[in-house]
Amino acid sequence: MLVLGIETSCDETGVALYDSVGGLLGEALHSQVDLHARYGGVVPELASRDHIRRLIPLTQDALRQAGKPLSALDLIAYTQGPGLAGALLVGASVASGLGLALGKPVVGIHHLEGHLLSPLLAEPRPEFPFAALLVSGGHTQLMRVDGVGRYALLGETVDDAAGEAFDKTATLLGLGYPGGPALAKLAEKGDARRFAFPRPMIGSADLDFSFSGLKTAVLTRLRQHGEPDAQARADLAASFQAAVVDVLVAKCLAALAREGLDRLVVAGGVGANASLRERLVQAVRDKGGEVFFPPLRLCTDNGAMIAFAAALKHPAGARGAEAFAVHPRWDL
Ligand code: KG4
Ligand code: ZN
Repeated sequence: MLVLGIETSCDETGVALYDSVGGLLGEALHSQVDLHARYGGVVPELASRDHIRRLIPLTQDALRQAGKPLSALDLIAYTQGPGLAGALLVGASVASGLGLALGKPVVGIHHLEGHLLSPLLAEPRPEFPFAALLVSGGHTQLMRVDGVGRYALLGETVDDAAGEAFDKTATLLGLGYPGGPALAKLAEKGDARRFAFPRPMIGSADLDFSFSGLKTAVLTRLRQHGEPDAQARADLAASFQAAVVDVLVAKCLAALAREGLDRLVVAGGVGANASLRERLVQAVRDKGGEVFFPPLRLCTDNGAMIAFAAALKHPAGARGAEAFAVHPRWDL
């Protein structure tokens, strides 16, 4: 079965072709980072318009890589939510239009389910059940995954998502958008022990998170410093990152222990963070467990995870076109 996956929930236009026998046959991605950079964040209307411009050429590109004509598609999948309403509508419209024109079924996929299942695109592939840490710009959740479509929420952030905390703290440090990768890069040159930032909720009995206070702690330190020099900024970045990573690692270990699991899957944009990856691998290995990540390029938003999730959810193919709909706010 050949599946076309379309992702347009935010500021990346992603298209990919996944074949249930041959794997990923074509991948095309356009990041709108340059478009939004001067506004310091994503401008929803600009995002929608750019998705419109990019989607058809990217689809042609993915088909070319795969050496397949449009008529070879068996299923068309698009991100149905959560995300920016206008941006989601672009993907939904193109998917539905293609489905109608080709007479092929169209399915909507939950963006987080795409992220959640993306580590199964890598080798070795984790077996069910596993615990999953979903860390993106909009979400920070721990889930128990017993199979495709069998997800239980174990804990989540009560305020900011981890990626949001990275982005907001990066702004405080004068780093541009997108802040997470820039902050992580700056942190490489910093001393993580210089500033003792809090580890919010690290000892709480639940598996929830809170990251908004950390950003305030950085702001307070910044004010004490007046104009921090380059080293102080790097030390602030490293100390902040260490606090976030400490909390994420502690809660992942707690989730594995509570659920009696030894496999952890990490997905979402913050899963690209090198320090988080390194610390998680070490900590989980020390407990006799194993951590699984998606391929690095598939940590952030992409069409491959959408095509792949659709192939897993509809192994026997899907039936006729479903109602055209997007869900900007949608729980998994
Ligand atoms: O999954 P994603 O691409 O989009 C959402 O669904 O939100 O995640 C984007 C988030 C942003 O907050 C970005 O700053 C963060 O992931 N991010 C990182 C890194 N790469 C991306 N945060 C920390 N370190 C990174 N290396
Ligand atoms: Zn995402």
